Amino acid sequence: MTSLAGKSVLLIVGGGIAAYKVHELVRLLKTRGATVRIILTRAAEQFVTPLSLASLSGEKVYTSLFSLTDEVEMGHIQLSRAADLLVVAPATADLIAKMANGLADDLASTALLATDKRILVAPAMNVRMWRHPATMRNIETLQRDGVTLAGPSDGEMACGEFGPGRMAEPNEILTAIVDMLKPKAQPLAGRKVVITAGPTREPIDPVRFISNHSSGKQGYAIARAAVELGAETVLVSGPVSLPIPPGVQLMPVETAQEMLEICEGEMPADIAIFTAAVADWRVAAEAPEKIKKTGSGPPSLMLAENPDILATISRSAKRPRIVVGFAAETEHVTEHAVQKLKRKGCDLIVANDVSRDAGVFGGDRNTIHLVSATGVEDWPQMSKDDVAQKLMERLAQMLVPQQKTEE
Ligand code: PMT
Repeated sequence: MTSLAGKSVLLIVGGGIAAYKVHELVRLLKTRGATVRIILTRAAEQFVTPLSLASLSGEKVYTSLFSLTDEVEMGHIQLSRAADLLVVAPATADLIAKMANGLADDLASTALLATDKRILVAPAMNVRMWRHPATMRNIETLQRDGVTLAGPSDGEMACGEFGPGRMAEPNEILTAIVDMLKPKAQPLAGRKVVITAGPTREPIDPVRFISNHSSGKQGYAIARAAVELGAETVLVSGPVSLPIPPGVQLMPVETAQEMLEICEGEMPADIAIFTAAVADWRVAAEAPEKIKKTGSGPPSLMLAENPDILATISRSAKRPRIVVGFAAETEHVTEHAVQKLKRKGCDLIVANDVSRDAGVFGGDRNTIHLVSATGVEDWPQMSKDDVAQKLMERLAQMLVPQQKTEE
């Protein structure tokens, strides 16, 4: 029996007939040693009582967003922050719709919106409600947002109908919880990964620069994924407005030249991944003072080529075992990426379409084509987090083939 000692679950109970099953779920979680805090929606209070759940969990049960005493003891933000996992059971069609649309009009939906923790949802509703296109759309949205589903299962329902919509049994929900909370294997423990991210800024004068639209999101997601797999992770980042991922060693830079110097200083490494959108050119001679309007037309800027960081590291004596480049293309995406793979001497190129319509620069999703000497693999569109996780797991397998990345 896997212990959940030290783990904290925030259980959000929706208002459905299946709510009676959460008593058993709480009992099972407590037997494994988990701390269980519970939020009841107003509708859930019609099916189960705060008193019965408080007795089983040994914790106060929360019901109101505007309770002064609750906010003083444990604010609603703190409730989801203190949890390792949020579980919604039963997840009614209404609660699912709120989650999918980011509504926050009560304690349950506010806690769900205010979290960055993983969420497990156990839907429970009438079969027609489950099959309704609106619910299907909402479920798709939640899955795209990274929410995990437990059930629903097929069977006879309280309303007398038969079909999908029955809430998963408490022991099935427990199995999903244990799976989500178990520590991940760390195949990159003891390995060093260097990642570049964000744009570079190439100064024109003390107040102006050349740059691009990279937000750093893809590179930062890769850094988070590398940390999760246990790697010593160095993130060499141009100027972005993202929080520093926990466990990452951040090396902030501005220009391509600085990025190259830091990358060279971080070698040797086991894996290097170049997601940064490095400016290909800089102004040959930065003006020492702000360039003034002279009345005789705009100034001419002489450009000089920046060093190619990826190609330099790929061909250096301290080349990492695996070197991954990115290719940002607006046309002939894979053809150009295949040429870049050869020209830059790396092992893999992650090609993506950065034309305006694709929304990759600054967006949260990406559609990538993994180009190697053996061919091209097209990945479906997914979140940048999922691209990062899948890519890092692939690289870990290439580096340490004898180990599995998942327990
Ligand atoms: O930051 P986001 O908003 O999340 O967007 C992600 C992204 C679009 C920036 C990312 O997915 C991406 O495509 N990064 C590569 C951007 C780029 O500069 O591509 P490129 O095709 O111009 O360069 C090819 C490769 O050479 C890249 O790995 C780049 O980091 C590297 N390079 C380029 C020029 C240079 N002087 N030095 C380099 O190392």
